[in-house]
Formats: sequence, C-alpha cells, structure tokens
Amino acid sequence: MTQLHRKDILGLQDMSSEEIQLILDTAESYKEILSRSVKKVPILRGKSICTLFYENSTRTRCSFELAAKIMSADTTAVSTAGSSIQKGESFKDTLLTLEAMGMDLFVIRHSASGAPHFAAKILKSSVINAGDGMHEHPTQGLLDMLTIRQNKGRIEGLKVLIVGDIMHSRVARSNIWGLSKMGAHVRLCGPRTLLPAEIEKLPVEVYDNLDMALEDVDVVNVLRIQLERMNRGFFPSVREYSALFGINKDRLRRAKPDVLVMHPGPMNRGIEITPDVADGEFAVITEQVTNGVAVRMALLYLLLGGGGHVGSA
Ligand code: CP
Repeated sequence: MTQLHRKDILGLQDMSSEEIQLILDTAESYKEILSRSVKKVPILRGKSICTLFYENSTRTRCSFELAAKIMSADTTAVSTAGSSIQKGESFKDTLLTLEAMGMDLFVIRHSASGAPHFAAKILKSSVINAGDGMHEHPTQGLLDMLTIRQNKGRIEGLKVLIVGDIMHSRVARSNIWGLSKMGAHVRLCGPRTLLPAEIEKLPVEVYDNLDMALEDVDVVNVLRIQLERMNRGFFPSVREYSALFGINKDRLRRAKPDVLVMHPGPMNRGIEITPDVADGEFAVITEQVTNGVAVRMALLYLLLGGGGHVGSA
C-alpha cells in the first residue's frame, strides 16, 4: 500500500493494519527532517490547515502546528477562548465558516465523542480527530506504536500493558485497536470502577492485580489519572490508587529487563508514575512526543496528497 484511500482520520478501530503500516513507515521517513538544522520542506506549500480545539492541549496542538509549518502549510489556530464560539456560535457554523475561508484540513479536539465524525460528514475538507471525548485519540495511538516499533523492532507478538483509568481514556481505546490489529497482546489493569462496560468485547486480557499484569511485559503504557474526575468516587483516595496501581521501580522488576515505559502526558508525577521511573532508563516519554510530530507530518502528507518528497529542500 502506498496511499491512504480515505478523506479523514477518525479512529484506529476502522483502520486496517496495512494503513497503520503505511502511516508508521511514512512517519519514520519524515522523522529525519526533525534532526536537520533547517527543518523546512515545501511538500504542503499552498495548503491551509486549521487546528480547532474545544479542549486544552499542549502536545497534540503544538505538534500538529509544528508538523504543518515544517511542511510549509499555512496554519490557523482556533480555540474556544478568543473565538466566536464564546458568543454561542454552533460547532456546525464554526466549521462551515472556516471551510468557506479555504481550509483544506481540520484537526479537531472536542469533549463530545463523535464530534470529528460529524465534522467529517458535513465538510468536504479532510478531518483528523485530535481526541474526541472518551472515544479515540488516533494520532496518540499511532505515535505510541511508532515508538514501540522503533525501540523493539516490531509490534507483533509483544505484550503491552495499559494501566490506569481505561474507562475515560481515548488514548487507551486507540492503543487497544491499533496494537491488536498489529498483532500485539494487550493487557489492561486498573480499578474495576475505571474499566469500561462490555470490556469482554475488546481484544484484551484484564487484570485486577498490577504485579500479575506486569509479569513479563515488553511495554507498560501508564495512563493519566484524570484528577478532575476524582470527586466522583471511582477510587477512595489518590494515595490508595498510587499504592495499588502506581508504577514504581520495584514493581517494574516483574516486567522484561528491557521494558519500555510510556505515558501519553500530561503526567501526574508521584501518582500514576514515580519521578524516578518517568525520568529513568526505561522511559521513552519524550521520544513519544518527538514521534508525535513525525506521525502528524505523515498524516498531513498522506491526506493532503503532497507531491514533493522528503529530500526536497
Ligand atoms: N497526550 C495528549 O493528548 O496531550 P495533550 O492533551 O497535551 O495534547
């Protein structure tokens, strides 16, 4: 496969392993541009990209903007603060207004699951889901897979543990779909109250006990505890959560000796992960961020059909 035959990237559940492979291969070839002294190629010159964020973001928004700028596209950033969304303009009218200005592609983050799917239906322009509610965060899933592939040389056959608040996590869902399509064995571990309904329908193994879940794993992906949900009684206290489900050096000894420790960020240091692990020899958390730029460059290229190639300067 050499091309993505789709207008939008809305999730990994409906993506084939061949498409994922193409995106990861393209990202790997584009990553080299990030180490050049002049990080600029003309591949998307003349294309207009809008980042439309209804929720806060550092990594996803900045890396999409950077990816677009490196590829010479023009970018427009719209967020709820400072836009006419504050005056009550609807999501639909906001989309149609921005498309009428000539946007070729929208990167959308929204608290409502399905918002990017709605946008993709009403827009002729391409849409990339930058995180929708508790549904999916496909670019995070892709950058996580790229990081695993680069460090381990493969994804197929690896044991990958995702720990934490699975129920509310769009990162977990995209990782589960993507990793299982690429042949990894996915384990989940977290408080029972933070596991999704109908978990038996997902291609995963579920563990209550973190020490058992960690046994012999190749990768641990630690999810952020969403402190904003703490007052809803999902677990008794942060202290208890850390004691039962926090990743620390002692616990990591149960995993493979070359285990990778990942976290999508932002991290709550000292809660779901101890600082010595977050900054330690097994952590690839900043590498994930760098790979995020490469993956987003690849997606912009594949969707907007840039005609240039990596070597162009
Ligand atoms: N991982 C992630 O989506 O981070 P941001 O919320 O900072 O974009």
